[in-house]
Amino acid sequence: MNKLIRNRDFLSNRGGKLFIENVSAEFLARKFGTPIYVYSESRIRENSQRVKSALAAATENSQLFYAVKANNNLSILSILRSENLGADAAGPFEIELAQRAGFSKNKILYSGVFHSDEELKFGLKSGVAINLDSLSAAKRLLKFGKPSLFSMRVNPGISGGKIRGLIFAGSDAKFGESMTNTIAAYRLAKKRGVKKFGLHAMTGSCVLDENYFAAITEKLLMIANTIQKKTGVKFKFIDIGGGLGIPYRTNEKILNVEKAMKLAAKVFAAGVAKFNLGNPKLMLEPGRFLVGDAGIILMKIQTIKAAAKTFIGVDAGMQTLLRPALYDAWHEILPANNLNAQNSKKISVVGPICENTDQFARNRLLPKLAEKDLLAILDTGAYGFGMASNYNTRAKPAEVLVSGEKAEMIREREGLNEIIGKQKVPKRLKK
Ligand code: LLP
Repeated sequence: MNKLIRNRDFLSNRGGKLFIENVSAEFLARKFGTPIYVYSESRIRENSQRVKSALAAATENSQLFYAVKANNNLSILSILRSENLGADAAGPFEIELAQRAGFSKNKILYSGVFHSDEELKFGLKSGVAINLDSLSAAKRLLKFGKPSLFSMRVNPGISGGKIRGLIFAGSDAKFGESMTNTIAAYRLAKKRGVKKFGLHAMTGSCVLDENYFAAITEKLLMIANTIQKKTGVKFKFIDIGGGLGIPYRTNEKILNVEKAMKLAAKVFAAGVAKFNLGNPKLMLEPGRFLVGDAGIILMKIQTIKAAAKTFIGVDAGMQTLLRPALYDAWHEILPANNLNAQNSKKISVVGPICENTDQFARNRLLPKLAEKDLLAILDTGAYGFGMASNYNTRAKPAEVLVSGEKAEMIREREGLNEIIGKQKVPKRLKK
């Protein structure tokens, strides 16, 4: 077994060839072309069952939601719905998408930020629980109607995670509201006759430290206590956001979800009792942990250029996977048709986009590679396709779902018509 495949049972090395469940990467590339996103259904199910049972074992009164933004493919949403998760939507279309995938409205959360009036009205009309991000949004929402439940996202000042750009709390973060304004918002909602309340925070993404989840829970309970004391509201739920991390590098630690949930639930039970908070539900809305390591990109080497450095040019680029260009994020790269080859040379793996940030790996030790070789980028199930673009007028890739021996296309590769989309050229500009 190639050591890069650590902790990912759905990937295997069969005689030097990469298999996703029981389908070979070479077969997928032949059948669907490259670049393609490939997802393992069993891995998505395994990940969600793991978090669900960790949460359920730690506390009786809990609910797990999937953050749709991590990967909004309808087939993936359907898998998570069938695993009985709820859906956390970032905007009206994600609410509609979740509904199309069969999530009922009591299993949809709407955690948007900087909502427009139209978005707030849409949220109200759909009857889903909304986590509001500002006093302004609270005032506007209460003007438009009386929600059956009212919840605010606070900025608790502490965060976790190491990637710059993935820290969502503290004075530099645009997310959440201050304590003073949060309290004012609950007072207004109470005055308006709202009877049910929730409390929300989402402070960081890709956290590998188990203690973080307890720390954030503890902080939220203290905040809940202050709000309860000052306004008299009782909370139906305390939502600690997402943030469960995955190890993108082979030498990174693996998050022990069971431990993380146990620690959080312990602090939760103690805090609820100590502050006399009633019987709130502990809620969690991870994205990355559920789908991140279940996806890979298959791409083909088109050009090898021996310039000042060796550049391996592939047919995927920053338009396919933005994370390396945007966050300097690391993704493991495997030679999918030659897994047993020894690393021999430092090379850079680059895409076809006219930007020098279009590099998946810089000076990385990889085996000797040849044109037409197939490469796999790991851990691209979350924030992969969802952040893809048509930059340089490139088509978004196809997405394929693998389940045992089955490989099914769940999104076709785009053509020029999809890229052109709804553009219109005024008649006067046509010859
Ligand atoms: N809840 C809310 C309100 C969120 O904004 C997010 C992610 C989540 C839950 C899920 O967080 P997770 O469990 O996936 O950490 N594009 C970045 C990640 C941005 C995350 C944005 N919010 C990346 O590629 O790493």
